[in-house]
Amino acid sequence: MKVGVDYYPEHWDVSLWEQDARQMQEAGITIVRLAEFAWSRLEPTEGKFDFEWLDQAIALLARHEIDVVIGTPTATPPVWLTHNYPDVLPVDNKGNAVFAGVRLHRCYNSPSLRKFGERIIEQITRRYASHPAVIGWQTDNELAANDCHCTNCTRLFRGWLQRKYGSLETLNREWGTVVWSGEYSDWNQVTTPLGGSPHLNPSFLLDFRRFSSDAVAEFNRFQAALIRKGSPGKFVTHNLWGYPVTADYYDMFDSMDFASVDYYPATDLQDDSKSKMYHGALTLDLTRGVKRQNFWVMEQLSGTPGCWYPMSRTPFPGMIRAYAWQSVSRGADTIVQFRWRSARIGAEQFWHGLLDHHGQPGRRFEEFVQFSTEAGKLAPLLEGTTLKHDVAMLFSHEQLNAFQIQPQADGFDYLGNIKRLHSALLRMGVGTDVINWREDFQGYKFVIAPMLYLIDEEMAGKLKRYVENGGMLLLTTRSGVKNMNNVCLPDRLPNLLTELAGAYVDEYDPGGKDAQTLSLESGERLSCGQWCDILTPVTAETTATYSGEYFAGKAAVTRNSHGKGVVYYIGTVLDEKASQVLMRRIARDAGIDCSLELPDGVEVAIRQSDERRLIFVLNLSKEPKEVSIPIRNCVRALSGGSFSGGNVKLAPGGVEILVQVSSL
Ligand code: GAL
Ligand code: ZN
Repeated sequence: MKVGVDYYPEHWDVSLWEQDARQMQEAGITIVRLAEFAWSRLEPTEGKFDFEWLDQAIALLARHEIDVVIGTPTATPPVWLTHNYPDVLPVDNKGNAVFAGVRLHRCYNSPSLRKFGERIIEQITRRYASHPAVIGWQTDNELAANDCHCTNCTRLFRGWLQRKYGSLETLNREWGTVVWSGEYSDWNQVTTPLGGSPHLNPSFLLDFRRFSSDAVAEFNRFQAALIRKGSPGKFVTHNLWGYPVTADYYDMFDSMDFASVDYYPATDLQDDSKSKMYHGALTLDLTRGVKRQNFWVMEQLSGTPGCWYPMSRTPFPGMIRAYAWQSVSRGADTIVQFRWRSARIGAEQFWHGLLDHHGQPGRRFEEFVQFSTEAGKLAPLLEGTTLKHDVAMLFSHEQLNAFQIQPQADGFDYLGNIKRLHSALLRMGVGTDVINWREDFQGYKFVIAPMLYLIDEEMAGKLKRYVENGGMLLLTTRSGVKNMNNVCLPDRLPNLLTELAGAYVDEYDPGGKDAQTLSLESGERLSCGQWCDILTPVTAETTATYSGEYFAGKAAVTRNSHGKGVVYYIGTVLDEKASQVLMRRIARDAGIDCSLELPDGVEVAIRQSDERRLIFVLNLSKEPKEVSIPIRNCVRALSGGSFSGGNVKLAPGGVEILVQVSSL
């Protein structure tokens, strides 16, 4: 467990560097990430390199026992590069070049970006390969799938399609281009989706998103290979931008040693919907799922966010520390705070760091020091621990993209609906691994496979095997709708999953924001919305029925025994309370312990090794909370007191970490 900070020495007068490094060391900082936007300082003009300032900064930090992670500077091509080699700039769907200056102004497929990117990466990696203070590398910064329509992307997209479909005839058939006379008769007619209309052929749009995702994953691989060649033996990571995103992170990280995330939880909790409150936990669980291992936070909230929008609330007292611990509780092994000093220059002057513009330590800084001191103390206990769960949730960027291309109903939101199921479990103290839907899930007791809108035989087969071997599977509405080419399947919904569900969709109603009600056999009424599948059970039993409209009395939720396992199908989108009620029931049915009842904003997460368990109890809200934790034989890691079950009182932003050693 290490604590660090993001630092931009090139933005500050050299006379401040020494003082900064000393103050960092005093604050317990042992890692600095730097240089990820400094291309114009590393290569001020074409082919003229200047590493002296970076040598000096790294040496100074090293003297204060601070290690360094260097970012490759490709997110900010310098002006000389875009000016002399305009193919670096992406082209939008109207054919206009994206102007330089904001950052991320680069096409991954640009030959000039590749050529000059390769050279700067070779230079920088060679220079620092054997530097003992340089421990690893970050590629670029927050890579995202570009929507680029330049000639290189157009040519490569065509090639991508040729490889996928083989012939134009197949492409025309698979995309259904006969509709609205969209048939191609020559490969040269195939372009990227120009014009930007959302009503272009959905198969075309999804393939273009896949191509764009593949391009960014390939760009990351290209960088990783250069770094490993130039600086062997050091780690390579990337700082992912929070969800939802178009690019497939599972592909984008196949070349990385571990995942890192930039974590900026919302600070405006006052008018916060609870779903916003629980967004952070899902983000961190998704990040842990990227490589199915612990990760880093490369940028952690330190101050008032702003610049990209009017400034939001300043983190409330306790928030910086509590959210840093939250990251650790869900698998972060290193927390790097963004950023050291708040910028006095440039576009991000009001995205605040640990220090305000005046540079004097204040409340937020002191809170961070408390966190870093505690982290230093707990580091030996955290060593070798990770999260181990019986429940998995399957996440798919492909589904996300398909739903973005064709929104299903007013308010129907793939990630938001996942968050509801995820937070319902969280509220019962049930930890969930959120993993790539294509990866192995056979070992879990309970698998939630929400909104499998695109489906193929392979996926349906894996789910079938899982259930037949005794698994508990939860399917939801909008499953089995399309094939992988974004074309509607011909049978009754949920098509390839009908046998598993033991029920079919007789009719559906995209109710959008109209609220609907459900009844359980107990008579209890619950609310739902967005979408209603009106189900006809075949082998399944009915768990809940609709209680209003023309479908009153029809099945909404079913339970089907199949092989040695069980499949639930939820044909609607449950509201928050209904999600909790039904998820508790289903999780119990799966034999999951869901005895906790956590108040709003309180989270529990458990990191463990063979020797010990660390139980994190966090109050991420601004109000004091009290929660009953029935876990015995623990030591309170922060205060040293003992704990043997009972109520834990938490101040706003309160943190309790209980340690249970197996020999106890
Ligand atoms: C991140 C980005 C940083 C900084 C920060 C605050 O998304 O990686 O460079 O811009 O946001 O806006
Ligand atoms: Zn391009």
